[in-house]
Amino acid sequence: MTLSKKATCNSHGQDSSYFLGWQEYEKNPYDELTNPNGIIQMGLAENQLSFDLLESWLANNPDAASFKRNGESIFRELALFQDYHGLPSFKNAMVKFMSEIRGNKASFDPNKLVLTAGATSANETLMFCLAEPGDAFLLPTPYYPGFDRDLKWRTGVEIVPIQCTSSNGFRITELALESAYQLAQKRNLKVKGVLVTNPSNPLGITLTRHELNLLLNFVDEKGVHLISDEIYSGTVFNSPNFVSVMEILVNRNYVNMDLWNRVHIVYSLSKDLGLPGFRVGAIYSNDDLVVAAATKMSSFGLVSSQTQYLLSAMLSDEKFAKNYIVENRKRLKNRHAKLVRGLRKTGISCLESNAGLFCWVDMRHLLSSETFDAEMELWKKIVYEVGLNISPGSSCHCSEPGWFRVCFANMSEDTLELAIQRLKLFVNAISSNKNNINGVSQNYSSKSSRRKSISKWVFRLSFHDRERER
Ligand SMILES: Cc1ncc(COP(=O)(O)O)c(C=O)c1O
Repeated sequence: MTLSKKATCNSHGQDSSYFLGWQEYEKNPYDELTNPNGIIQMGLAENQLSFDLLESWLANNPDAASFKRNGESIFRELALFQDYHGLPSFKNAMVKFMSEIRGNKASFDPNKLVLTAGATSANETLMFCLAEPGDAFLLPTPYYPGFDRDLKWRTGVEIVPIQCTSSNGFRITELALESAYQLAQKRNLKVKGVLVTNPSNPLGITLTRHELNLLLNFVDEKGVHLISDEIYSGTVFNSPNFVSVMEILVNRNYVNMDLWNRVHIVYSLSKDLGLPGFRVGAIYSNDDLVVAAATKMSSFGLVSSQTQYLLSAMLSDEKFAKNYIVENRKRLKNRHAKLVRGLRKTGISCLESNAGLFCWVDMRHLLSSETFDAEMELWKKIVYEVGLNISPGSSCHCSEPGWFRVCFANMSEDTLELAIQRLKLFVNAISSNKNNINGVSQNYSSKSSRRKSISKWVFRLSFHDRERER
């Protein structure tokens, strides 16, 4: 039987090295005890650093996860609830949490919040609301590889890159914005807006006030939309502090002006709370029409009622929420510092960053030539020989070869140390011109007898293991 064009077209981006790396990892996943020579997953922006905080809250609040209110079962109420506007108590808790993360410098109205199954669904829904197939959104590069799927695949929307480069730390400039706009026009694409991630995935940096002002001026002048994907807003662990576009809009007295309705925020609990499996995201828009249209579309990706109930109890515990935000940031800061220090000792530097679950790592000096082919060649060695799945810059549409995104919050400290040591051996082997580096991970792993305890870190089972477990 023939599938539809949509089902078979390649704009999903699943052939990208970003997803291929995950597949390779799944075939041979590292496990401290059962597969110490396996591939360490450093290509997945997961936050497992603060699970204990969530777990201890759950232990102290057993009603929330067991369909109860004040000890009484509300199973039937939750089982039947199907209002696509979402639970009011959950939306209230979400907007308060969003404000708390922004140091209460921006406030949010729960009536302008649309719940979605993760930021993935939020971003796609906004595309369906704001653009026709063949229209374009401008995105600064490098960008999150999933955007090819989320923004383009089912909607038919095109992405036009705003080329940012290492010459100014990958910052957005007026020139880069204007060039992207011209490029779209040359391709006969109607530009509907700009989409940024703040803090950036994969750069791990927050947008400066200057950049936010540039962006607002640009979208104001062109009469287009601005989407700010703020999924990493709670991960900012170093100064400067996070500044949300909503704060700038208010400060610049844009409230209720034309532009006010054309700025939309995407949020999710996948990163800040480390709950990508719960599928909780949101669109926040000042435009009533966008809110109404996105609410209708949210039928295709609702958040289940028991998840909303559980999280409304958790997030409306203000003491817990405040403490979680502070403690989680502290842990991310330590982990980030550990990776940066380890890489530095290996002669590898990172873009200076203050947020996120990853570093943007400069391996240009390890390329055999300044090309994307050489980047792929290096990436394959790192995956297959060193045993680390990291994401090459080309999968993030970076315009310069030699940059890689390396995640640090989805593993134990011991595993991170092991990854750094494997990399060190590899770099030493290159610099002493030993071309045959096969077995680097093998050599290293046999040295690694530091098994301390069987930890609670969750590593994906391979597909085959999962099948066996069924
Ligand atoms: C910038 C960005 N937006 C959206 C997503 C998708 O997140 P979710 O799990 O909430 O769908 C991700 C996930 O990595 C991301 O990095």
